[in-house]
Amino acid sequence: MIVFDKVRIAYKDRPVLNDVTLKIEDGEFFVLIGSSGCGKTTLLKSINKLLPLKSGSLSINGIPVKDVTVQDLPKMVGYVVQSGGLFPHMTVEENIALTMQIARMSKGEIQERVDQMLRMVNLDPDIYRNQYPSQLSGGQQQRVGIARAFAADPPIVLMDEPFSALDPVTRSELQNEIHYLHAKDKKTVVFVTHDMDEAIKLADRICMIQNGRIVQCDTPENILKHPANQYVMEFIGANRLWANPNYIRAADIMRLHPICIVEGRTVIQAMQIMRHNGVDSLLVVDKKHMLLGLVRLEDLIGKQGSDVVETYLTDDYIAVEGETSLKEIISTIDYGVSGVIPVISHSGVLLGYLTKSSLLATMSKQFVPERSEGERSGVICPTN
Ligand SMILES: Nc1ncnc2c1ncn2[C@@H]1O[C@H](COP(=O)(O)OP(=O)(O)O)[C@@H](O)[C@H]1O
Ligand SMILES: [Mg+2]
Repeated sequence: MIVFDKVRIAYKDRPVLNDVTLKIEDGEFFVLIGSSGCGKTTLLKSINKLLPLKSGSLSINGIPVKDVTVQDLPKMVGYVVQSGGLFPHMTVEENIALTMQIARMSKGEIQERVDQMLRMVNLDPDIYRNQYPSQLSGGQQQRVGIARAFAADPPIVLMDEPFSALDPVTRSELQNEIHYLHAKDKKTVVFVTHDMDEAIKLADRICMIQNGRIVQCDTPENILKHPANQYVMEFIGANRLWANPNYIRAADIMRLHPICIVEGRTVIQAMQIMRHNGVDSLLVVDKKHMLLGLVRLEDLIGKQGSDVVETYLTDDYIAVEGETSLKEIISTIDYGVSGVIPVISHSGVLLGYLTKSSLLATMSKQFVPERSEGERSGVICPTN
């Protein structure tokens, strides 16, 4: 675990990080995000012992970073910078070997590991081992940079905007690879970006930094749903949540107070409730508000009025749990069946409901900005 406790860092007398208190768990994919100059690189460098603290403490697994020796550092922390940060006068092999030499690994071990690392980042060792960085594309250089950071097998890998100079296709490829490497080796990754999409794609937790302070540190889902302030909101952008429909859940968009009836009441009473509320189906619950099922008007017509309503429950409906994502809801609902989609808790308690029109209304919010009063009439023109 990496623990920051009230860390302050200043360049000369200008404070750059203020009061940073933070715990990064082992195996976490932790993403730092914020506007240029907010202190992301400074925070990352401090973990790699590249900057002294003005005050506060910083430790890795209980060991103060200031006490870690230069030889031990590559075994604890790997570091990838934006453009790969390779030494131009050294071959790929020499570049990757560097951290292992500092860590005093044996020659044979280093040689074997260079090849293993190159294969890990999908570069053929026989082709690339002896090439110089200038002979490689940006994406290949970045792969070598990653290979170097992983070479001494550190449990922590720091990555400072590693993909920001790459074209979108290579970028997406490397994002997938780093996601895979992180999961496979259970490394702790601290990753800096200024790209919210990248952060959402990769992060277990996102840490938003503004002017050297942490303003919010939470899961992507919670950041998208509950941005802490205007700065975070601007970073997220208006429609970001909608680009990630797996973070929108039934409980977020359901309507409350569905029309329901408690078991033991009669067909006559059910039909009265339907007529009174202008609906053609009712949700049937028990006395603890557990959902028992659904009855439809068409199934009650002509039946004995004194029968209890649960005699006529239909099989022809689906319920979703509050945690179900919009994506799953949309892919599982049966467009042929009309009516309500009850939303239930894990234990089956009725929480609310969705209808196809409520789903449509919710989804259309992504395209239609909230309108202010007095703007409700007029001609709607296509925007492009
Ligand atoms: N070596 C340095 N000397 C003086 N000021 C610096 C130095 N490095 C960074 N800064 C300043 O510290 C602030 C934070 O920088 P940095 O951590 O690099 O931000 P970020 O990575 O978020 O863009 C910026 O205002 C930057 O100008
Ligand atoms: Mg930076």
